[in-house]
Parts: sequence; structure tokens; C-alpha cells
Amino acid sequence: MNLSKMESILKGRDSQPHLLIEVLHDVQESYGYIPEEAMREISKTLGVPLIEVYRVASFYKAFKLKPSGKHVITICNGTACHVRGAQLLMDQAMSQLGIKHGEVTEDGLFSIEHVNCLGACALGPIASENGSYHHKMTPAKLRKFINSLSRAEKEEVKHAQVSHERTTGAYREAVTPR
Ligand code: FES
Repeated sequence: MNLSKMESILKGRDSQPHLLIEVLHDVQESYGYIPEEAMREISKTLGVPLIEVYRVASFYKAFKLKPSGKHVITICNGTACHVRGAQLLMDQAMSQLGIKHGEVTEDGLFSIEHVNCLGACALGPIASENGSYHHKMTPAKLRKFINSLSRAEKEEVKHAQVSHERTTGAYREAVTPR
């Protein structure tokens, strides 16, 4: 974990336990979750017992104690989306990715979350990926969408491997004595 971000978050906040939630929000925004190391730093700097930092961080849904996947698939389960089949979307995402909501795939690429309303009820059911909305979603469309993200990820890995091989190949050629 890169602690330099923590230094700037905690700067000027020594011994101010009332700032706990504000600081947790800043940490969540910077790191995407609340790392254990960050909780220790918060505890030391604000003068709040570590157990209390952990209690508050785990109580509020806004704070995550584990990093999310690279692609966060969010299914809206508000009333309007629910009556239009949000549960089918959730079932599709969970069976396709092999995880439950709140979990992350082993490769760290996907996580599934649900929310109570994304504020676009007339266009439901809605699924979003890293904050970009997909309206009038169906399980079939969601399956294709997740497949396309997986394919793009595989392509990226392939490209990275090829360029790594080229670089190391060129290096080997350059250092091999003639
Ligand atoms: S209930 Fe889904 S956007 Fe409002």
C-alpha cells in the first residue's frame, strides 16, 4: 500500500477523533477501499482506538474493507428495477462470474454490487459498470456485455505478453556477444 496518500489525507488532522468519518471517506475515495494499514494510521493520528476505526468502517456500507474488482458490475435493485427483472440480472451476473454480490473474482477483474436506486427508474432495469449505466438491461445483454469485457481483458494480457517478449528478445539480441 502506498502510504504517501495517507500522509496527505491525515495532514493537519492529528488528535481529532471527531474527523473519523471524514477521513474514512477520503481514504475510500483515494484507495477505493479502507486498507488495514490505513486503519492503523488513522487510529494513531486521530487518537481513536483501532477497534473503533474498524467498527465504524465496517458499519457503513459506503466503506469497503476489500478492494473491488477492476470492473464493478452494479445491479439496481430498487423497486422500479426490481419489478422489471433486476433479480434475473443479478442471477445472470452471479452465475456467469461465479461470485455473489459483494465478492470479487479470483483474478480481481470483476465484482458485483447492488444498489437501491440509480436515479433513472424509467429506464430500468439498470446495470452499471464502473459508473456507466446500461439501460433496459436483459440477462442476455448482460451476458454479452460481461463476455465482451472478459474478451477485452484477455486481449490486453496477450498484447502485454507480446510486447514483453519483443522487449526481452530485443534486449537478449543486444547483449548477446557476436
Ligand atoms: S429503481 Fe433502479 S434506477 Fe431507480
